[in-house]
Amino acid sequence: MGKKLVIGSSGQIGVELTEQLAKDFGANQIIAADIKSVLNVKNSVVEYVTLDILDKEKLFKIIKEHNISEVYLLAAMLSAIAEKNIQLAWDLNIKGLFNILDLAKEKHIEKIFWPSSIAVFGPTSPKLNTPQSTLLDPTTVYGISKMSGERWCEYYFLKFGVDVRSLRYPGILSYKTPPGGGTTDYAIEIFHAAINHGFYDSFIAKEVKLPMVYIEDAIRATTEIMQADRNNLSINSSYNLAAISFNPEEIANEIKLIFPEFKISYSPDFRNNIALSWPSIIDDSFARKDWGWKHDFDLKKIILEMVNGIKNSGFN
Ligand code: SER
Repeated sequence: MGKKLVIGSSGQIGVELTEQLAKDFGANQIIAADIKSVLNVKNSVVEYVTLDILDKEKLFKIIKEHNISEVYLLAAMLSAIAEKNIQLAWDLNIKGLFNILDLAKEKHIEKIFWPSSIAVFGPTSPKLNTPQSTLLDPTTVYGISKMSGERWCEYYFLKFGVDVRSLRYPGILSYKTPPGGGTTDYAIEIFHAAINHGFYDSFIAKEVKLPMVYIEDAIRATTEIMQADRNNLSINSSYNLAAISFNPEEIANEIKLIFPEFKISYSPDFRNNIALSWPSIIDDSFARKDWGWKHDFDLKKIILEMVNGIKNSGFN
């Protein structure tokens, strides 16, 4: 068994996944990689390398030099920002995936984690209890890249036996790093605004409900699916993953229980149209049945974690 490489280690998921893997397997078993020239994580005990995922040669060199057997490919351009960088988003999200899939096909890597998203769904996918298998008609660059990526993951598994595992993450709530340009970022911004200004102007309309998960649950889902017995996995593309769902008005009302003076207004922009094309509540029964997925953080618990986390140490 070789080391684990986290690509995109400075991002919202990358920072906390790297920490967790270092705890679980030992810091000397993990290599963190990101396009940034320095790691923006204080006191990291993990070795860091600079890597552009589109640089296949350097990627190969890192994998050989560090004896990597498992790759977590988190580098991607998220939904809102990808709409403004169509070609780059496609290249990063899809060519980056191909670079890793090909290295696994050539037996240089044994196992891959690659995240998909609720963005694979579109306006005609069912909004409530969105099934694992249903019509996918994403309307965003990000969603199109994730949907295609899922197809390629399954193709590489069926055709070449590549062990690639994937989750369709909902919006992820966390406070240690700024969110990376997604549509669900409003649900993080609202906490910073409540704590620092007592006021938030939401770019998502008040009634638009989206599926969300707390970072600790998202990280645990990731490590659990990677540890699961492959024979138990009936989905070879990407698993629906759910925890809770809420809309801006609902989360604002919960925040008001802690900060009674908090005020919210609504100025929906293009991100609201993206949100409207996504599901409200996801059916993740395959994940629950196949590998025992169970979320732990409900809305009240998330709110306490976020508020305390931002007050004590969150980015400003
Ligand atoms: N959180 C992501 C986004 O909003 C969805 O996967 O882009």
